[in-house]
Amino acid sequence: HALFRPIQEAAPPSPTKRHTKISVVGAGNVGMAIAQTILTQHLADELALVDAKPDMLRGEMLDLQHAAAFLPHTKILASTDYSVTAGSDICIITAGARQLPGETRLSLLQRNLALFKHIVPPVAKHSPGALLLVVSNPVDVLTYIAWKLSGFPPNRVIGSGTNLDSSRFKFLLAEHLEVNAQDVQAYMVGEHGDSSVALWSSISVGGVPILSQLTKDKAAMEQGVLERIRKAVVESAYEVIRLKGYTSWAIGYSVASLARSLLRDQHRIHPVSLLAKGFYGIPEDHEVFLSLPAQLGRSGVLSVANIQLSEEEAARLRRSADTLWELQRQLEI
Ligand code: NAI
Ligand code: LAC
Repeated sequence: HALFRPIQEAAPPSPTKRHTKISVVGAGNVGMAIAQTILTQHLADELALVDAKPDMLRGEMLDLQHAAAFLPHTKILASTDYSVTAGSDICIITAGARQLPGETRLSLLQRNLALFKHIVPPVAKHSPGALLLVVSNPVDVLTYIAWKLSGFPPNRVIGSGTNLDSSRFKFLLAEHLEVNAQDVQAYMVGEHGDSSVALWSSISVGGVPILSQLTKDKAAMEQGVLERIRKAVVESAYEVIRLKGYTSWAIGYSVASLARSLLRDQHRIHPVSLLAKGFYGIPEDHEVFLSLPAQLGRSGVLSVANIQLSEEEAARLRRSADTLWELQRQLEI
């Protein structure tokens, strides 16, 4: 308009610059932590928010829009109508009940299963080519449910899984070893939370494997310390929920790191909840989602890392798979 005198016909955007749209369903603690991180890291050209509470939803949208002067340009939309998510590249689902202090994630299943039956079909209808990233708990079972309800191929239905548990694991290991958490390579795999499996053999700092460098007795001592760290990881969420009522910031950064790897086709490896049947002896008929280190790119899960598990680690993974499969068989989806 009159404020600026064009010096030439504005060149059309380069054909290779695709418009990236992320939708976040559930604008609560977690959804808004994810939204805020997506904006700060400029992961999308367009961000759509959906929630069941119209006034709170509009308030969150306006509050984010008012930060425009401090952020890379992102179009922010919000509606209780799922059509606002149309054409999304990735739909992140955080809607649902959360744990009360001391409550397990699995106790949320029936309430959040009922919600997913209303949420997933319209999300899938409006964005048939999208990636689904499930965060709501119990995230592994709800990712299976989102896969079934969406009809999407399994590589495009991913749960945030133990990407968060692994970050907590790295933090505690880094504290113990007095190094930067970003230089710690360590995986928790399996179920997000109570029965997650720490892969001791995966722990390395700056490329140096930890346990194999230790003498036998030092390794035994370290094993005791590492077991304490594993237990602290499993307890993390319960402690934060007891203290502040919910967890949000770490999951916000965890999910944004997944969105970046997926949308920017980074081919990075993350422990995420994926269709795990056939891996590490999990029976082919056990259609369960569990976290394994996987390569992520624009089409979703590209490959699963062939990590070496000890027999005990593989056995714990299979026990989690059996538990979830028994639970899932009783569900009416
Ligand atoms: P919250 O209560 O702050 O937000 C949940 C939101 O879902 C609310 O705004 C509510 O209005 C909305 N909602 C409910 N029914 C809906 C529907 N039918 N359609 C659209 N929106 C609907 O809860 P918070 O703290 O954000 O947690 C959300 C979920 O994320 C919980 O299940 C929690 O356990 C899970 N979570 C998962 C983590 C993970 O690592 N996978 C980490 C942290 C939380
Ligand atoms: C967490 C729970 C809420 O790990 O899933 O933060």
